[in-house]
Amino acid sequence: MPVIVIASPKGGAGKSTTAILLATELALAGARTVLFDCDPNRSVSIWASRKKLPKNIEFINDVGESEIIRAIKHHDTDGKIVIVDLEGVASRLVSRAISQADLVITPMRGTTLDATIGARALALVAEEEEALGREIRHAVVFTMTRAIRSNQHKGIEVSLKGQGVDVIDPPLMERAAYSALFEFGGNLRDLPPQGNMEGAISNAIEFARAVYQRLAEPVEAAA
Ligand SMILES: Nc1ncnc2c1ncn2[C@@H]1O[C@H](COP(=O)(O)OP(=O)(O)OP(=O)(O)O)[C@@H](O)[C@H]1O
Ligand SMILES: [Mg+2]
Repeated sequence: MPVIVIASPKGGAGKSTTAILLATELALAGARTVLFDCDPNRSVSIWASRKKLPKNIEFINDVGESEIIRAIKHHDTDGKIVIVDLEGVASRLVSRAISQADLVITPMRGTTLDATIGARALALVAEEEEALGREIRHAVVFTMTRAIRSNQHKGIEVSLKGQGVDVIDPPLMERAAYSALFEFGGNLRDLPPQGNMEGAISNAIEFARAVYQRLAEPVEAAA
């Protein structure tokens, strides 16, 4: 079953938030998910420690570069979706996780700095593709997006699409509920009200759906 790796060498790009939203929304939709926290800063572990894990989510941490491939293969069994959250660096651990991916997602804020550093994730994927002799599906998701997008953001999106990069629609909007997940744990439905909850929930559902669709499509359909 699919392995989704969330990777960007840019710190604070929204990787852990993306991993948690994806795991919780896919789990609510009925999928069994396994969420790996492979970041020594343990953001996802903080989320996991706040509350009893939501149904359908298995959580794993403390996986280093020597165990990562074995651990992913062990959990990559029928009926489960594996989601791997990584540190904001380029490292052997990151490359090894990418080598096991069916889909690599790079979260990116719509700023030139994020796009420039985030683009290095594309280079890491290309390196693994070359080493393995297979294609690895890759997509970018814009994070912390505001309702009115800046010209900088629009320009980056046009440029990525022009280079044939798969950009996930919808982006993850900037929502108080998303950052509150680290404070309260659980899924978005468990949170005390934070801003526009309905908007936050529907955005997360649509994002998870767009990711799920990519898992179902063959690689050639990506371009
Ligand atoms: N869509 C969003 N709306 C509101 N806040 C967000 C959103 N995405 C991320 N944040 C907040 O931005 C900060 C960084 O996000 P996150 O920890 O997910 O990034 P990261 O890429 O995992 O960072 P690191 O590289 O340190 O692991 C966190 O405080 C998080 O709560
Ligand atoms: Mg993180």
